[in-house]
Amino acid sequence: MKAVQLIESQPVPVLAEADVPKPSAGKGEVLVQVYTAGVTPTELVWYPTLHTKDGQPRVRAIPGHEFSGVIAELGDGVEDFAVGDEIYGMSDWFADGATAEYCITQPSSIARKPQRLTHAEAAAVPIGALTAWQGLFNRVNLQAGEHLLVHGGAGAVGVFAIQLARLHGARVTATASGKNAAFVSELGAESVIDYATTNFDQVVRDVDVVFDAVGGETFQRSWGVLKSGGRLVTIAADAEGTTDARVKEAFFIVEPNQKQLAEISDLLDAGRLQVFVDTEVSLAEAPAAYERKVQRKLGYGKVVVVTGIK
Ligand SMILES: NC(=O)c1ccc[n+]([C@@H]2O[C@H](COP(=O)([O-])OP(=O)(O)OC[C@H]3O[C@@H](n4cnc5c(N)ncnc54)[C@H](OP(=O)(O)O)[C@@H]3O)[C@@H](O)[C@H]2O)c1
Repeated sequence: MKAVQLIESQPVPVLAEADVPKPSAGKGEVLVQVYTAGVTPTELVWYPTLHTKDGQPRVRAIPGHEFSGVIAELGDGVEDFAVGDEIYGMSDWFADGATAEYCITQPSSIARKPQRLTHAEAAAVPIGALTAWQGLFNRVNLQAGEHLLVHGGAGAVGVFAIQLARLHGARVTATASGKNAAFVSELGAESVIDYATTNFDQVVRDVDVVFDAVGGETFQRSWGVLKSGGRLVTIAADAEGTTDARVKEAFFIVEPNQKQLAEISDLLDAGRLQVFVDTEVSLAEAPAAYERKVQRKLGYGKVVVVTGIK
């Protein structure tokens, strides 16, 4: 099958298209014929892309851990799905990804594809929506009526953080560039701060929760806008290696979750949640997409690889 692999990681990650053996589903596994896969450029430098679970160097990883497609084969013991089912999902970070014609995943990592969505739209959902869901509801237990500040409101994760928080009854302030301010406000942010012209910590204070999808100085300055007892959650990888207990506590990495994906499917099918595909690219264009070198059409949302199999 055709796949895209990480062929070099230093000094910068290099991806290339390759012909690799088509995998088959082992016991308890599912083989997916991938129609579309989401692009998360930062994934190339994350620990699991470069290491195996037992800490050994990992080579030729296939990136792209969210996908939409059809079940091609079921391993022994998989009962809840059938060959031909349209599914979408998010795979474990240590497993090979979906920037390929086929990928192996676990039944617990997939759910029914939202029917209203195209495969390109469906592949733009899992990482962004699950990260927002787990950050807001599992990590900081956002409550209705609370004031949430979302950093990176126009990003692939931020768009879901704003929408899920609004559906939950929270008030949302978001940071974004000026060009995306109207978009972010339409998503439900009652106030949008242009990070290029305004220091957010000079115009917002006493928030209950900060959801940080930016990191660095933005993350550091966020402690100061929390009310007493306020909570902060960050997904920016620069917090990953920290020894600071408070930062360690704030950082988390999204995990596959079938039940949450199924609930997200329902919200998408009911038209209560929206997804935004910025650009679709071919498998051959995937390396450029990871290098952020493809022309963006919207300037927000996700870039999606279309395998061409469909
Ligand atoms: N820990 C996890 O589990 C996890 C999961 C997914 C992603 N991530 C990480 O989370 C981050 C965001 O991911 P993503 O997929 O949403 O990225 P993305 O789609 O590239 O979006 C990033 C957004 O950040 C905005 N931005 C840049 N600088 C900013 C600033 N100083 N203040 C406020 N907003 C700013 C940009 O806004 P404009 O376009 O308006 O300029 C852009 O919309 C990445 O670092 C990614 O690696 C972590």
